[in-house]
Amino acid sequence: MSRLMSRLVIVSNRVPAPRERTQLAGGLAVALRDAIIGRETLWFGWSGNAAATATSTTPTIAATGKVTYATIDLSAADYRGFYRGFSNTMLWPLLHSRMGLAEFRREDLAAYRRVNDSFAEALAPLLRPDDTVWVHDYHLFPLGAALRRLGAANRLGFFLHVPFPPPAIFASLPQADGLLRDLGAYDVLGLQTAEDAGFLNQALAAVGVPGEARVFPIGIDPGAFAAAARRAEAGPEAKRLTSSLSGRALILGVDRLDYSKGLPQRFIGFAQLLKRFPEHRGRVTMLQIAPVSRGDIDQYKSLRKELDELAGHVNAEHAEFDWVALRYLTRATARNTLAGFHRLARVGLVTPLRDGMNLVAKEYVAAQNPEDPGALVLSCFAGAAQEMDGAILVNPYDPDETAEALHLALSLPLEERRDRWRRMWQAVERNTARSWARGFLAELEGAEARAA
Ligand code: G6P
Repeated sequence: MSRLMSRLVIVSNRVPAPRERTQLAGGLAVALRDAIIGRETLWFGWSGNAAATATSTTPTIAATGKVTYATIDLSAADYRGFYRGFSNTMLWPLLHSRMGLAEFRREDLAAYRRVNDSFAEALAPLLRPDDTVWVHDYHLFPLGAALRRLGAANRLGFFLHVPFPPPAIFASLPQADGLLRDLGAYDVLGLQTAEDAGFLNQALAAVGVPGEARVFPIGIDPGAFAAAARRAEAGPEAKRLTSSLSGRALILGVDRLDYSKGLPQRFIGFAQLLKRFPEHRGRVTMLQIAPVSRGDIDQYKSLRKELDELAGHVNAEHAEFDWVALRYLTRATARNTLAGFHRLARVGLVTPLRDGMNLVAKEYVAAQNPEDPGALVLSCFAGAAQEMDGAILVNPYDPDETAEALHLALSLPLEERRDRWRRMWQAVERNTARSWARGFLAELEGAEARAA
């Protein structure tokens, strides 16, 4: 079989849920859709089940078209140590440069390594010699090395979807060197931005790991998202939203409820807008949709509490008897519905404190009506800021700067909105999901396979 026709093996902690498999509608699935369509693919990962008595190494297999899904269950203890613990209470804050929120426990690191070993043990027997294996994200740093130990000689690639911090911050992780050395088992390492790749390369060089991380900026399918937004604009949810606004301008934020997203600062920034630029009082409504994520982790529980209080406070102070200033919901909203909401929004507000890329920023741009587009207020610490020179960039730690940016965004004349939008649309069309997956796979498939 030729190399280009070889099977693609995707490994990620989350795999599409069975109901999402025919449409490939979930986050990573959307990005990989083009790479998967028409190609024999094996997608391996966690089933989402965390109640097993022991983490299994015998996967459950199910096929949908040309894609075969192989999933394993985690034990409750491994879920706590691997997923909740090391992945999301140590690595996630560390990689987002938030050491104050990180908690290290040796037993969590042991569970992280154990689960990566279990992934490798379950996957290795399914691998064919010419499979191209693409591993995703921070849950699986050591997987490549674990597969190599079991004799896998395949091309192994790794893409980190989140930022990589300055090496001095990464070094605060106990046993950081071991994880960096594990990364040396991959043939290709991909990151979102030149800054992230530069930091990882410095960290790798410091421990003598050869190889160089490269930049592959992820994107969306702009045409498909634009079409979904046009369709959804005429749909019942968008109509309800429009009528509820009574002609007021909409400021929209859409994020997982995560402390990397800068939500408290964003709420305060909106309150500052109303305070400092009173001409907008009663004329704008902010809608923040923030589906709960990792809700069983303490740092996320306290963020949720903080946001509940803050939203109540902003409205108590600024709302009027016939106007709710800030609408805040934690319920998940369907992607297509969101596309329609983006199109209705005069301002897209995307202000993470740090973010690998942030595809919401790109989706906001793709959803706009080119004749009458809205403006994007974007954190300079989102990877997307490197590409979007038409956005109004802010430092999200300064709510006053956010307020000023919102004021500017709400005041831009049509010509300038069109001009900024055209520049952003070009960027969104340049780096797409397709170019990302093709670029990474071309690099990986060009790499020499290792001798076992
Ligand atoms: C981020 C990470 C993904 C993760 C997703 C949802 O986008 O980069 O790896 O899957 O968040 O988080 P969860 O913990 O629910 O998988």
